[in-house]
Order: sequence, then C-alpha cells, then structure tokens
Amino acid sequence: MHMNTPHDSTKQNGREGLVETLFHGTGTTYDEIAHLATWGRDKKWKEDLLGRLDSPKRILDLACGTGILSLEMARRFDCHVTGVELRPEYLDLCRSRAAERGLDDTRFFCANAEEFGIEETFDHITSCYLPKYVDLTIVVPNMVKMLEAGGMFIMQDFAYPKVPWVQVVFDDHFARMKERCKDHPDWNEVWELLPDVLKKSTWIETLEAEMIKAGLEDVTVVEQSMRMSALVFGRKPL
Ligand SMILES: C[S@@+](CC[C@H](N)C(=O)[O-])C[C@H]1O[C@@H](n2cnc3c(N)ncnc32)[C@H](O)[C@@H]1O
Repeated sequence: MHMNTPHDSTKQNGREGLVETLFHGTGTTYDEIAHLATWGRDKKWKEDLLGRLDSPKRILDLACGTGILSLEMARRFDCHVTGVELRPEYLDLCRSRAAERGLDDTRFFCANAEEFGIEETFDHITSCYLPKYVDLTIVVPNMVKMLEAGGMFIMQDFAYPKVPWVQVVFDDHFARMKERCKDHPDWNEVWELLPDVLKKSTWIETLEAEMIKAGLEDVTVVEQSMRMSALVFGRKPL
C-alpha cells in the first residue's frame, strides 16, 4: 500500500477535522442512528447500490465505517472486500464484526481515501456517505487507477433536496433528531453541522463531472427518496 502525498491537504483545510468532530464517540451507536437519521432508508439506498453490482470478485469499499456495506458485500457475493476507513474507532468495530462473522476474505486499512493507493486492481469500487467529505478531484482519478477495465465505480451519499417542500421535511427531520437522540449526546454535532455541510455540497455534480473527466463511461446519476440521497456510477472502458 502506498499513500499519495496530499496536494490539497485535508488536515490543513479541515476535512479530517470535520469528520472527527462529527463522528467522535459514535461508533457503537452508529448502525442504529444511521437507520433513524435516514428515515429507515439507509438499507434501501444500500440495496439499490448492491443491485447494480455485477458479480463482484474484488471490491474496494471506501469509508467502510463500522462495516455495514463492506461486510454485507463480503457475505452476499462471497467475494474479496478491501475496506478503507479514516477513523480507527469505526475500523476496530468493523474488523471485530468481520472476525465474528467468519468473513475471512476481507481486510481493512486505516487511511484517508484521498491518499490511499495499492498496486492492485478491483472490479468494483463502492462507497456510502463519503463524497461530501472529500476532494473528488483527487479521489476520482486516484480510484480510476485501481479500477479494472470494465469495472464499476459507484458512490452514494445524502443530498440536500431541491424541491422546496422536501427541503422543509428534510430540515425539520434534522432539527428533531437532536431531541429524539437526546440519550446519545455524542451525536449532537451531526444534527447541528450536517445539514449545512449538505446544503453547501455540490458532490453530485462534481462527482459526475470528475467521472466523465477520468474517462468513465455510462456515467449515471440516480436520485433516491426525492433526492435526499443519490447514487452516481460509471464504468471504466474495456
Ligand atoms: C456516515 S459514515 C458511513 C460509513 C459506511 N460507509 C456506511 O455506509 O455505514 C461516513 C464515514 O466516512 C469516513 N470518512 C470520512 N472521510 C474519509 C476519508 N477522507 N477517508 C476515509 N474515510 C473517511 C468516516 O470516518 C465515517 O466512517
């Protein structure tokens, strides 16, 4: 494994700092709160992603977190999964869950997705809830190097909806989450900061443009749940 030298350091411009502020101390409650925070849609959004994978043999999953997607892919497809995750707190949980479930053809690296590199290729590169936290002008070309010809790069994340009444529902939901999760004060920063991160993010448009620029074909955007989430994917030419 090698780490690229970050030419636009995430440490300096605060992206890693933001991620630490948001997720510090939330590992053991992550899976339960992710379900609540997404109106129970996290499972559906992930199913939509999983349904687009084409007989995967070797998957790289960026921002694997506590392993919800990585471990499901390893189980469902009986394939190799490499996970990359910035925060040791989540990674420790992911590794112990993989061991408990006997998912031996998995390995997990503690690394920043902007800097991660390995002299190997993958037929699928997946990720849930990462694009808004990274510089996609760095991540996309970096990942395309590790993608096999014919392979798919697919990312999903929350998005700030465009339709005004859906924006009201979305804002209201985040305002209420703090009260609903009052027994989990470690999550307060998420309810306070995440809506603004999403309002400012242009990750969907940027990811689509970067995939095209990196030479991926059939680049597609799929809006999920009234554009409260989206999937963006493309294929490396054969
Ligand atoms: C909301 S969690 C999603 C975890 C997992 N993908 C899932 O769907 O359950 C976002 C994850 O992105 C990770 N993350 C954020 N920035 C990252 C980066 N630059 N490199 C690797 N992981 C990152 C965070 O540490 C956190 O685990």
